[in-house]
Amino acid sequence: MPILNPRIRRHLVRIFIFILFLFVLDASFLHYRSSPSKDPALRSQSAQAYTATKQTPQSQRIFIASTHWNNEIVLRSHWNAAVIQLAASLGPENVYVSIVESGSYDNTKGALLELDYYLGQLKINRTISLSEATHQDAIMREPEEGEKGWIETPRGRKELRRIPFLSRERNESLKPLALLEREIGLRFDKILFLNDINDDFFTLLDTNQGSYAAACALDFSKPPAFYDTFALRDSEGHEAMMQTWPYFRADESRHALERGDIVPVKSCWNSMVIMDATPFYDTVSPLRFRGISDSLAMQHLEGSECCLIHADNPLSGKKGVWLNPNVRVAYNGKAYDTVHPANEREWITSWQKLIGRWESRIRRWVTSDVVKFRTVFHRLRNWQKEKPGEKRVEAGDFCLIDEMHIIVSIGWAHV
Ligand SMILES: *[C@@H]1O[C@H](CO)[C@@H](O)[C@H](O)[C@H]1NC(C)=O
Ligand SMILES: *[C@@H]1O[C@H](CO)[C@@H](O)[C@H](O)[C@H]1NC(C)=O
Repeated sequence: MPILNPRIRRHLVRIFIFILFLFVLDASFLHYRSSPSKDPALRSQSAQAYTATKQTPQSQRIFIASTHWNNEIVLRSHWNAAVIQLAASLGPENVYVSIVESGSYDNTKGALLELDYYLGQLKINRTISLSEATHQDAIMREPEEGEKGWIETPRGRKELRRIPFLSRERNESLKPLALLEREIGLRFDKILFLNDINDDFFTLLDTNQGSYAAACALDFSKPPAFYDTFALRDSEGHEAMMQTWPYFRADESRHALERGDIVPVKSCWNSMVIMDATPFYDTVSPLRFRGISDSLAMQHLEGSECCLIHADNPLSGKKGVWLNPNVRVAYNGKAYDTVHPANEREWITSWQKLIGRWESRIRRWVTSDVVKFRTVFHRLRNWQKEKPGEKRVEAGDFCLIDEMHIIVSIGWAHV
């Protein structure tokens, strides 16, 4: 074996010691950062606050909204049971369950009828709307002249856009909200949009002592990788930079996570999302789900209805959209155990955090999403220049991505 030149060896040893020094420095800094923040306003997740709300859920009225398509397995495995339990713990006077289903191929309808029965036993008010209309029915029809939500696709057909279609279903689930206010003056404080559920609802409800435009859980199917969604944007509007801790590109979002605080974001949409109901009651323009306009979608751009709703929400700027890292929803039992270790232990080790910090740093040095931003920006400009007289604007520019989604008979597709 050739022996290294002693000078080179000394150099290598120095470099090694220097790197070790950086690591130790970084680790102690991280330790300092993750100690609970001293500012009482930021310690929203303190044990006292949590129990306080948990004991008095009666103080808030919750409207639960959910849309379903081919969900039978999830409904029967735990969803129904969890909704029944949640509704029971809130009490019939404080909760309304609104569910919209259409055109499932499996027996989602049967599972929802069971839910309806049990909610009835508990005297929980509810609307469970089941429809036979399938995707096939929706796309078979010729759109009327000027009908919105359809697009000329590159394959030379006029096809049904996915996002406006989903927006209609989500809006449908909000109908009882408006109706109850109009007819009996009954108003709700919060709306819970429920995709999946576990028992951390009350922690999520109490995010920032209950004051927020929206609060979302963190989802996991294969921890430590989190379940990234089409609608997550950090405080600067970037998509998640990495699948593992500390996820975000923006300093503000990442630093909050490192401190163990709730994370400010521009948009999030996960298994559980709670929104302040006030903007949904606005008399001039009540907040609802929507897609971007068809003419903008023609530029080969799309934006999730679940991101646009935060962009449109006047409360987002005032009360904030928060991701609560203390509410970790898992899509299976094994993932649940991983993200909820016994005896209050941290679910990510210090070592994983240290590695994560370096990975994040390197990624921030060597990658960027300017190309994406530039593409979106150019297309937005083209769209505005098409009809200068119309003064076209899209408030949800940070939601936009270079995609086109359409409904097909068995689901949806990219074109
Ligand atoms: C439930 O329905 C009854 C009868 O319409 C109504 O008086 C009550 O306020 C409703 N409560 C909720 C929480 O929806
Ligand atoms: C969403 O709901 C509002 C109010 O009900 C409605 O005006 C709007 O057209 C809906 N949007 C879509 C895409 O269905």
